[in-house]
Amino acid sequence: MDQKIILELTEKILKLKKERKAVILAHFYQRPEVQDVADFIGDSLALSQKAANTDAEVIVFCGVHFMAESASILSPDKIVVLPDENAGCPMADMVDAVQLQHKKQEIPDATVVCYVNTSADVKAECDIACTSANAVNVVASLPEGQPVLFVPDKNLGHYIISKTGRDMTLWEGCCNTHDHLTTADVLKAREEHPDALLMVHPECRPEVVALADKVASTAGMISFACESEATEFIVATEMGILHPLKKRCPDKHFYMASQSLVCPNMKKTTLDKVYQALVTLEPRVKVPEKIRERASICLERMLEVV
Ligand code: 13P
Ligand code: SF4
Repeated sequence: MDQKIILELTEKILKLKKERKAVILAHFYQRPEVQDVADFIGDSLALSQKAANTDAEVIVFCGVHFMAESASILSPDKIVVLPDENAGCPMADMVDAVQLQHKKQEIPDATVVCYVNTSADVKAECDIACTSANAVNVVASLPEGQPVLFVPDKNLGHYIISKTGRDMTLWEGCCNTHDHLTTADVLKAREEHPDALLMVHPECRPEVVALADKVASTAGMISFACESEATEFIVATEMGILHPLKKRCPDKHFYMASQSLVCPNMKKTTLDKVYQALVTLEPRVKVPEKIRERASICLERMLEVV
């Protein structure tokens, strides 16, 4: 995007944001210019905590649909706006409430843990949620020997099993963006940058995770890179994270594990759509009260464990 247009739109957004008493929340995978206009940028966990605690009247959520739904669940009295209503999460769509109800009947004693990347309808069927930052702690907080059904990310599920030793039934879902990364991609990046530490998101396949120097959520990767004595890092997550990494650690070097690590849905939000969303306060995301009441239990239980 042209720098002049970015500056003009940024100025208009900042002015309108004040008039609307709005807060702009953005995920680390968002376009750089969208992250730069946000009041708060974070991983899924930090964004849900912010959404739960803000005193703004309007939340403009620069992320994907399930994130805006979580904001609506946790802050039901606020107006929640998702600048592009088609910004969904294909992984979240890999499980729906009816499929989950059937699975629950097969293992009625199981505690159902859902990745936060799920719809509100699915959350309403679950006992506790987790994000990639607290998934291990959430599962470890459940009583030993308790059967667990984990939805929908089988890769994150494998990672939790490897860390907790728990026996979990895993749903057959995954994030296509992360799941496409292969060990061959990672080994090639390692060959090109032999001194770099490898940071891997747990949405990647287990064999890729096994090669990592650090497995972490997006926020975890940023803290690790900033605090580490190392100066070079290979990044195995969506490439939007390069923007905060470079901003926060300007003297360090970051290399993508693959140029295919792009989430098309996270890129749907543009600065222009953020501006339009502030003008019209549309498209709104509002979780119906009946679903919200049930879905909020599993999100609030998660926030207690953090
Ligand atoms: P985190 O930022 O919580 O690590 O989530 C990654 C992701 O894929 C969000 O959709
Ligand atoms: Fe969903 Fe993957 Fe995109 Fe995150 S990166 S929003 S998990 S498709």
